[in-house]
Amino acid sequence: MADGMFGLSERTARETAPVWEKVKDHVTPIEWPSQAELIVEINRLKKERDAVILAHNYMTPEIFHGVGDYVGDSLGLAKEAARSNAKVIVQAGVHFMAETSKILSPDKTVLIPDLKAGCSLAEAITGADVRLIKQRYPGLPVVTYVNTTADVKAETDICCTSANAVQVVEWAAKEWGVDKVILIPDEFLARNVAAQTNIGIIAWKGRCIVHERFTGADIAEMRAAYPGAEILAHPECPEDVLSAADFAGSTAAMTDYVMAKKPKQVVLITECSMASNIKGDVPEVNFIGPCNMCPYMKRITLENIRDCLLNMEYEVTVPEEMIAKAALAVQRMIDLPPPAVPARYDMVKAKHHVAVELI
Ligand code: 13P
Ligand code: SF4
Repeated sequence: MADGMFGLSERTARETAPVWEKVKDHVTPIEWPSQAELIVEINRLKKERDAVILAHNYMTPEIFHGVGDYVGDSLGLAKEAARSNAKVIVQAGVHFMAETSKILSPDKTVLIPDLKAGCSLAEAITGADVRLIKQRYPGLPVVTYVNTTADVKAETDICCTSANAVQVVEWAAKEWGVDKVILIPDEFLARNVAAQTNIGIIAWKGRCIVHERFTGADIAEMRAAYPGAEILAHPECPEDVLSAADFAGSTAAMTDYVMAKKPKQVVLITECSMASNIKGDVPEVNFIGPCNMCPYMKRITLENIRDCLLNMEYEVTVPEEMIAKAALAVQRMIDLPPPAVPARYDMVKAKHHVAVELI
């Protein structure tokens, strides 16, 4: 019966009212009724299927606030995949994240709503490439960004995310007793990590198509236009962007920064949904552009999440022998103690003398 807000049934209107409060700046009243119905349907299907939805910070606000059981950065999602008791994991994110969940929870059914939700970094390197790199640099530890396929992880000594890359690189160098490590495949992450440590870095030419497009000139323009605004950037951006920013860190680190400091004006140099999602929790903060859209993340919608749970597809599988090898690398990362202070990329204090060797 249509007697609630927006012509919704009273029950749907009541169940979705807290979500509407968080998304109302980004969803129009015309779009909302169908989204509200989908949110209720998805939340019901989750219970029926004993499923959890792990949603990345780049999901759109109606997914992030409406159906995500756990929301966070790549590291947080991986930890949650290892910890969850649900039978089914729905990855509201991209394919490498679903593979990571499968690697950590091989007995669970891992689903992704669209198999084409890829990643330019994951596509930049293969397991065969890593085998060749290891032949060229014998004895050096291989650290790979989690934004890689399972076959790359299977060739890896330890994984990292942007939240812990410096810590992982320093751990690997100490463990292997070397002063150089291989950190692949993101060239910019590698350069930004190299600026934070005395460990030498061998890097690969992978790029994130979202973050590589930002430039130092963009930041200078934003500073001139909005003198009081705080500028936060993701470490997948080029070094001159990080050097000009006030803070750099993973998507979770950027969220924590805004939630703790609540600056009046913020520029988030990252994927567009980040600002919309945080805004839902801190409406008093004014977010200013620019941002770039990730076409892979944007393949995930409420509609295909509903279909995914209804039809139990698309299942993400990883061959057993690959899981055994890749799990070592991911678990090693998860088992590292959390850093004493939250990871941040301080380009002002950076140790710029360390060179990056690009393969
Ligand atoms: P984090 O959430 O780990 O910062 O990663 C960003 C990203 O681009 C994931 O695809
Ligand atoms: Fe990959 Fe960049 Fe998209 Fe993240 S934002 S999924 S790194 S292309």
